[in-house]
Amino acid sequence: MQLARTGTTVTVPRDRRLIEALKDVLPGLSYDCEKGYCGACETRVLAGTPEHRDSILSEDERAAGRSMMICVGRCTSERLVLDL
Ligand code: FES
Repeated sequence: MQLARTGTTVTVPRDRRLIEALKDVLPGLSYDCEKGYCGACETRVLAGTPEHRDSILSEDERAAGRSMMICVGRCTSERLVLDL
């Protein structure tokens, strides 16, 4: 996963959540519930295909793939670029 603003690349093992890997490199990361229902962690997706597991985004927003809840979401593409 690439972080566009930070200029960092983070590898997320299958047994870790995105947000866990992100906390390691971004101490000021915005989040709250970590369960996909508050929206605090919504992050713009600049490239790649997110796999949504939240209960906030509409079907249209999911299909558009322009943002995701990084606390529960994953990705189905090899590469994901986030606006972080
Ligand atoms: S932290 Fe609440 S939706 Fe991600």
